[in-house]
Amino acid sequence: MIYKYCGHSGVQLPILSLGLWHNFGSVDDFSVATQMVVKAFDAGIVHFDLANNYGPVPGSAESNFGRILKNELASHRDEMFISSKAGHDMWPGVYGDGSSRKNLIASCNQSLKRCGLEYFDIFYSHRYDGVTPVEETMQALIDIVRQGKALYAGISKYPPHLQQKCYDILKEAKVPCLLSQYRSSMLDPAAKNKNFQIAADNGSGIICFSPLAQGLLTGKYDNGIPEGSRAARSTGFLQASQVTPERVEAVKKLALIAKRRGQSIAQMALAWILDDERVTSCIIGTSSVSQLEDNIGTLNNLSFSEEERMEINSIISNPAIWFE
Ligand SMILES: NC(=O)c1ccc[n+]([C@@H]2O[C@H](COP(=O)([O-])OP(=O)(O)OC[C@H]3O[C@@H](n4cnc5c(N)ncnc54)[C@H](OP(=O)(O)O)[C@@H]3O)[C@@H](O)[C@H]2O)c1
Repeated sequence: MIYKYCGHSGVQLPILSLGLWHNFGSVDDFSVATQMVVKAFDAGIVHFDLANNYGPVPGSAESNFGRILKNELASHRDEMFISSKAGHDMWPGVYGDGSSRKNLIASCNQSLKRCGLEYFDIFYSHRYDGVTPVEETMQALIDIVRQGKALYAGISKYPPHLQQKCYDILKEAKVPCLLSQYRSSMLDPAAKNKNFQIAADNGSGIICFSPLAQGLLTGKYDNGIPEGSRAARSTGFLQASQVTPERVEAVKKLALIAKRRGQSIAQMALAWILDDERVTSCIIGTSSVSQLEDNIGTLNNLSFSEEERMEINSIISNPAIWFE
């Protein structure tokens, strides 16, 4: 594994991290989930990305991760970097959603219990909720860190016009933002264009989610929607309507370049994100150990020639294939 410092901090992350949004909930196979976490850890993927609402059912990914930790990796806690987040709908009533101090602090306490942890390595505000002043949300993160419930603070999906304010408040409190988490892939250039430089200028690391556009950048949708894939599952977040002919066509063209490079399309898509020096890590999601192995193979070829970069850019510089 290759490790990289997060922005201007002293902490390193593996350039590939494992996310537990899908495939680790109570509806999923616990033994496969266990194998994926253990395999990831053994391969040096020591960063695991969670959130209060991951499942389904919400909360069950954290409970399952806690069980896996206890059963398989209990003596390795200090070798791991574990995150959680709060801000999306989680429990009934007005306090179970949003980015208020009430939601973040109650949620962090719940998440620690579910995971069986004393502290998270990083705790994020999962989103700007459109209402709560960022001063309130950032102060909750600062207090979570000061209470020892998390070692570092992070923000996720904050729009560019609020990013600077978040960094300033956190910096002023001497709890600098360790990581800014954004959706980013070859089919999803918005954050790269709008958010990355603000994060980098403020010394925050950048960690990308959905780097394979939820599976689109693997070629699995080349001939329709296969059974068992995320777009086919009722609990999957990728909608069949997002698997458009334009996107599939672009992926087929990209696959030809990947083949020349001796890589799978998934590996090339991950390497492409990591080709941006501002990026600390990519959070991958996998539904099997073989997918995890494929993605780990990215490490065998991370460099691009200028010609390859230009060829890739000519395919992906097409707004018709971008996610909103
Ligand atoms: N901050 C936020 O708001 C936020 C939002 C979303 C995600 N995240 C984080 O980012 C993580 C990753 O997101 P993601 O799951 O959308 O990432 P992704 O890597 O874009 O998509 C993962 C899915 O792609 C398919 N896949 C992965 N590798 C494959 C391979 N080698 N060959 C074939 N198919 C492959 C699998 O889908 P199938 O089920 O089809 O096999 C897998 O579940 C999440 O777990 C979470 O931790 C954060």
